[in-house]
Amino acid sequence: MISQQTIQQILSRIDITEIVGGFVKLKKRGTNYLGLCPFHNEKTPSFTVSPVKEIYKCFGCGRSGNAISFLMEHEKYSYVEALRWLANKYNVEIEETETSPEVKAQQQVADSLYIINAYAQKYFSEILFNNEEGQDIGLSYLKQRGFREDTIKKFQLGYCLEDRNAFSQAALNAQYNLDYLQKSGLVVVRDERPLDNYRGRIIFPVHNQTGKIIGFGARIIKSNDRAPKYINTPENEIYVKSKILYGSYFARQAIDKNDECLLVEGYTDVISLHQSGIENVVASGGTSLTTDQLRLIKKYTDNLTIIYDGDSAGIKAALRGLDMALEESLNVKLVLIPGNEDPDSYVNKVGANAFREFIANNKKDFILFQLEVSLQNAGNDSNKKASVVNQVAETIAKINKAEDFTKQQDYIRKCSELLQIEEQGLHALVNKFIRERISKQENKVSENETAITDETFIPSPADENDQSFNLLFKDELHERAMVRSLLEFGLKSWDEQNSVADYIFSESIDYDMIDNKKLLEIMDRYKTWYSEGIEPTAKNFLYDEDQQMSSLVVSIMDFPYELSLNWKEHFEGKINTREDLYKEEVASTLNYLKLRKIKRLIDLNQKDLEKQHSQEEQIMLMQTHQHLKKMEKELLHNLGTVIVK
Ligand code: CTP
Ligand code: MN
Repeated sequence: MISQQTIQQILSRIDITEIVGGFVKLKKRGTNYLGLCPFHNEKTPSFTVSPVKEIYKCFGCGRSGNAISFLMEHEKYSYVEALRWLANKYNVEIEETETSPEVKAQQQVADSLYIINAYAQKYFSEILFNNEEGQDIGLSYLKQRGFREDTIKKFQLGYCLEDRNAFSQAALNAQYNLDYLQKSGLVVVRDERPLDNYRGRIIFPVHNQTGKIIGFGARIIKSNDRAPKYINTPENEIYVKSKILYGSYFARQAIDKNDECLLVEGYTDVISLHQSGIENVVASGGTSLTTDQLRLIKKYTDNLTIIYDGDSAGIKAALRGLDMALEESLNVKLVLIPGNEDPDSYVNKVGANAFREFIANNKKDFILFQLEVSLQNAGNDSNKKASVVNQVAETIAKINKAEDFTKQQDYIRKCSELLQIEEQGLHALVNKFIRERISKQENKVSENETAITDETFIPSPADENDQSFNLLFKDELHERAMVRSLLEFGLKSWDEQNSVADYIFSESIDYDMIDNKKLLEIMDRYKTWYSEGIEPTAKNFLYDEDQQMSSLVVSIMDFPYELSLNWKEHFEGKINTREDLYKEEVASTLNYLKLRKIKRLIDLNQKDLEKQHSQEEQIMLMQTHQHLKKMEKELLHNLGTVIVK
């Protein structure tokens, strides 16, 4: 672990224009810098860097972040890797905090495995190109399949001799440790003697995100019924199957540029497509997708296109990953390759252009595809059809992030058409599943969530103009505005004794009511730091390891109302900036939140009123109602005089 002190030192030296400028050509525009966005193709620059706020944002594709997240996105570094890169750049000596002996031991095993794998890769490639058996059997097989030499080199393919232990001997002679050789899967011990595990096979190294080799797939050459087609590295400290996407190291930039990730089944599919110029492709190894793999894809793009051969068992496997993909907000499309072809043979047959065209013309939406298949299976059986309806509603209910709302609406419309049922009915069913899931989740999170959040948090988009749904968005805006006020103006004075932060924390805002729990976390941390005498600003959150936190802060602080220099010179003293009006802004933001609470209480009270009550209770509820209404009126009045936007 890098020590907090080192991190502070690194952060204090960060100059975002210098770092981003190392990868993107930037020109000064007013207080900001402008350039062509490295994350999407564009001709006119919309990529903006603000040295003052230490953030970047592209107004074309919407990507934004800080210097560290830039390195993470652009160079695909992890948080720690980005810190190390910066430390190196700014000559900051890294001070490591004590790691536990277990972690140290594990790191040591991992390091040894990386070293052995790198050695093995070189050894097997050397054999492939320079050994007679390697050339005659391995290289000629690869060439006959159409792989060019530059492709073979790029993917660092190799060949393992048929000999019992040629590799084992070489590795042991080079002083590699037998235990680690076994752990790496390269060597097995039979009758107390080391034996090469991948004898007579083509070696496909598997790289991680940073290009290090974490394991191998070894393909048999001569078909043999008794031996498996592939032998893969066993799970170990660095080879964790559920986190691996073969080819991701070579595909990452192309996925970024194309804003699409193609998913195929096999090693050879990835390599063939790559060779033909289609580089945004990774393989799952034919198993169902895991959440970790989906998140890896999500790091680069929202668009996943699964390309499988028509009758592959892989389709079923991939289908199982679908619901998770929706939860991760990925747009999933499916393309089936015709005939007995797989992507590898098909691209070799028709060429890259025809392949691309085929993909573009035959992409099917995964949900609709699944629905069509289930409907065909159900035939005229009305019981089966009913369960299809339920199934599809449950699937659609998984699309439940606020930003995916239109997508969900779209699916409800299209699916109800396919199912020939009323759109409203499907709406209702989807909402039921959403409610069920949310209440399950909330029960998990805490037993005593208030009824208020229960009632209002559920976006029930049964009606386009649905109140509670609109409220959700507006509410979040006000929550964000409060946190922004805190981060931006918190340290300024409110009155003679108190800072804005003091004021915000003293106001009776009901924090249970803040829907976005990340915002609440910011408030909480701010409060703690502030009470410890630290003076927090947006920067304290901007560089947080938690990327969700960091990007939330970026989006909150998003280049607001920036005045161009000319403008400012021209009107200096004549117009009010946000700076001048910060007190009004803080006050109105808090008033909005108070108003919202009152509105919710009124609603709640109203619901209660509709139930059966004794006369006394009835009177009390009526009084409460009047009291709340009066408070609402006052607040509205205050807002009316305070709003200056
Ligand atoms: N696979 C595996 N073990 C097997 C068979 C397959 O791990 N016994 C995985 C491999 O990752 C393989 C993928 O499933 O790449 C797809 O299998 P398949 O289509 O049979 O292999 P290809 O890589 O396409 O090989 P080839 O084109 O040579 O048939
Ligand atoms: Mn194949």
